[in-house]
Formats: sequence, structure tokens, C-alpha cells
Amino acid sequence: MKIIETKIEIQAYLKSNSNSKIGFIPTMGALHQGHLELVKRSKEENDVSVCSIFVNPTQFNNSEDLLKYPRTLEEDCNKLKEIGCDAVFAPSFEEMYVSMPTIKFDFGHLEHIMEGKFRPGHFNGVGIVVSKLFNIVKPTQAYFGQKDIQQVAVIKSLVKDLSFDLKIIVCDTIREKNGLAMSSRNRRLSENAKEIAPKIYESLLLAKKLLLMGVNAENTKLEIRNFYKSFQQFELEYFEITDYSSLENIAFHKAEGQTAVIIATYLDGVRLIDNLIF
Ligand code: PAF
Repeated sequence: MKIIETKIEIQAYLKSNSNSKIGFIPTMGALHQGHLELVKRSKEENDVSVCSIFVNPTQFNNSEDLLKYPRTLEEDCNKLKEIGCDAVFAPSFEEMYVSMPTIKFDFGHLEHIMEGKFRPGHFNGVGIVVSKLFNIVKPTQAYFGQKDIQQVAVIKSLVKDLSFDLKIIVCDTIREKNGLAMSSRNRRLSENAKEIAPKIYESLLLAKKLLLMGVNAENTKLEIRNFYKSFQQFELEYFEITDYSSLENIAFHKAEGQTAVIIATYLDGVRLIDNLIF
């Protein structure tokens, strides 16, 4: 497996694989099974699979969060090598940002809800780095996890609006046996927090049950707020019930596959997100 730090080198490597289908998995490292499943899928569907590892400072609106973000490059490369990833692109900050971009993305209503609302500037940073990475790697297909449901919507809109010539593949959220969605942030959870963290998935399942029974979104949200009152360790940031594709709020569950319940919560100071589509 090649480990490449510069744009020139990754482009030279990919040129030597011209006419190949390139699968691309952008990540910020601290890889878990969820990331590895994206790589495995890419390997099945492409000739060459490239994983990028870059903790992108422009998408962090909280400097402490950026500082605490786990950085485990060596461990990540070992995992990727083991599953047969072809190349890792791990640039430095200077390599990615020769100068600070002045361009600003505006993703419309996605900027004002959920992650957009609580992490101002986050999607601008995601849009910038993902555009840069797409331009450098020029993938045929790029792989993202459903856990970041709003990021997926932002990236789909980026690809459509800027005519990037690639396909976005969205893969299911991978969970621990106890239901906790895998996330790089889980390694920051204390043992106590890890024990209670599966309550997040439980709350999503409860919302699903209520909505499928015909309870409206407003009352379902009230039930969920009550559910979290019993678990003081959580600090709920948002719990939304939306249409799966537009991410607009809905009043009731409509049809199979069209409803998303989406949560962001702090648990012992670690911010976790998750969602369920049904
Ligand atoms: O999902 C992530 O890990 C990041 O937001 C991404 C897409 C790699 C951009 O930095």
C-alpha cells in the first residue's frame, strides 16, 4: 500500500493507473469498522481504492474539538493495509491549504438546520476540503457513511451544483453489537459513558416505534425529551424528524424509507450524532 503525502505524488500514482475506476474514501482518520466497510465496498466496485486521512481544521467551529480529535495515522495505515487499500493520501495542512480559501459555500436550508445550525461554518469547511480532494484524486466513485446524513446531503448538492464527474455512494451506518453507531469520537468516551451510549440508538428505535404507530412528530419529540430526562449524562442538542431526502421537518411518518430520525447529543462532553431511516 502506498502512503502518499503530496498532491503531485498522488496524481502521478493515479496517472499510472489511468483508465482505472478510482474509488475514493475521504476520512479524518481514527478509522473504525465503519470506515473499513467503505474501503471494502470501494474495493469491490473499483480498480483502485484511495483513502484520504486529513483532519480538516476549516470544518471545526470549536478549536477544542479540533485539538481533541484523535490522530492515529500509523494505526490507521496498518488497518488499511490489512484490508488491501491501494493508497493512502495523508497530506499536511500546508499541502492542502497553500493559502486560506476566501470562497464561501452556502448550502441553502441545510445551513440553518441541525449540524448547519449548531456548527456554523462546518459545511463550508467540508465543502472546501471535499472539493479540493475531488479535484486532486478525480475519483470515479466516492464513499460516505449514512451516519453523517446531513453531510451526505451537502456533498450530493456540491457534486450536482459544481458538476463534479463522479458518483456518490452512501453506505449503511455500522454499529457496535449494543447499537452504538461507530464513530471516531467513541474512543474519547469514558467507560461509564460507553455503557450508557447505546441509549442513543434506543431513543431512535423508540421514535421509530412511536412514528410507525401513528404518533405525530411533535409528541414523539416530547417522548424522546422525556426519555433523556432519565439519563442526566446526555445533553441533547437536537432531535429531528424529517423527510429522508430533503431533511425538511415532517409532521407524521409517510411511507417506507422516507422518514429520518436524527440526533446530536453530548455525552460526557463528547458530541455524538446518529440517525435512523425507515
Ligand atoms: O466525514 C468526515 O470524516 C469529514 O467530514 C470529511 C468528509 C473527510 C471531510 O473532511
